Amino acid sequence: MKLSMKAVLSIRFFVTREITKTPKFFTQKCYKATDVAEEKRRAALMARNLPKQKPIPGVKHILLIASGKGGVGKSTTAVNLATALASIKPSLNIGLLDADVYGPSIPLMMNLNESPYLTEDDLMIPLTNYGLKCMSMGFLVTEKSAVMWRGLMVMSALDKLLRKVQWGDLDCLVVDTPPGTGDTHLSLVQNLPLSGVVLVTTPQQAALQVVRRGVTMFEKLGVPIAGIVQNMSSVKCTNCSSTISLFGDGTKKMADDLGIDFLEDIILDPKIAECSDSGVPIVVSNPESLQSAAYLRLAGKVAEFLKNQQSNLHETTR
Ligand SMILES: Nc1ncnc2c1ncn2[C@@H]1O[C@H](COP(=O)(O)OP(=O)(O)O)[C@@H](O)[C@H]1O
Ligand SMILES: [Mg+2]
Repeated sequence: MKLSMKAVLSIRFFVTREITKTPKFFTQKCYKATDVAEEKRRAALMARNLPKQKPIPGVKHILLIASGKGGVGKSTTAVNLATALASIKPSLNIGLLDADVYGPSIPLMMNLNESPYLTEDDLMIPLTNYGLKCMSMGFLVTEKSAVMWRGLMVMSALDKLLRKVQWGDLDCLVVDTPPGTGDTHLSLVQNLPLSGVVLVTTPQQAALQVVRRGVTMFEKLGVPIAGIVQNMSSVKCTNCSSTISLFGDGTKKMADDLGIDFLEDIILDPKIAECSDSGVPIVVSNPESLQSAAYLRLAGKVAEFLKNQQSNLHETTR
């Protein structure tokens, strides 16, 4: 069929007008098509390039302690939770890994500073205190050299802290993570079969907002969320013993909204900080205190959660 010049011109005019009139329609269609192709390409690349989640020989469960913000009490919770896990069931072998390569806290909080010995196979022997096998970048380098590291070096350091260590048989390796939900977390999730994550937050809006993002990230990556710990929400008056709320109680509401378990409320107590700073976790130094009771309750809930997670050794938990 031959079209007259007039018809050709009017079709061209119509198409040009429609394109300029509704650019969104065309671009949206166009993006959708490329999005699907791009998604497929990326998925294929990911499948090819993603490291396989490799268990650590002998380690049944790996549990992350994470939050969005720094300074909310991840390390304090990790140390006291690990100690409490070992204390509620002394037959359990618990390890504590400090994955905060830039700002390790475990050497101070666990009072460990020596350099680890090596086995004949060049594996580092973890340092032990209060019955916990510990590993931290702080045992290997001075703080100054650690902060100058770049991303890739951090990833490789993390891998060494995980796999070049003679962990032996562990029921649970508690991993204290750095602030945020960045490269370290992604690398841990991609490389390790994780049994779960415990989120720690203060009830301040700024901290809660970031934790929400953390929850979304872990859910997307398929990491089971053991629940959330609210830390430093209130203090007890030393004169009248009444509780003074510092930032409200927003964590419970957020946990409800997100459908995750609210595990424990740990008050702000100078004794907890003092014990951390002196290298004797409160669960060890004051096992009968109310604060220790809260960590022990937390440990009980975490142990229960781990029982329901598949062990990396494919047996039931002790
Ligand atoms: N429940 C608490 N009561 C009192 N001080 C606490 C409590 N939790 C944490 N801290 C203190 O707050 C500071 C930050 O805690 P830390 O565990 O290092 O946080 P993060 O690992 O999230 O950066 C430390 O000085 C610690 O001793
Ligand atoms: Mg920390």
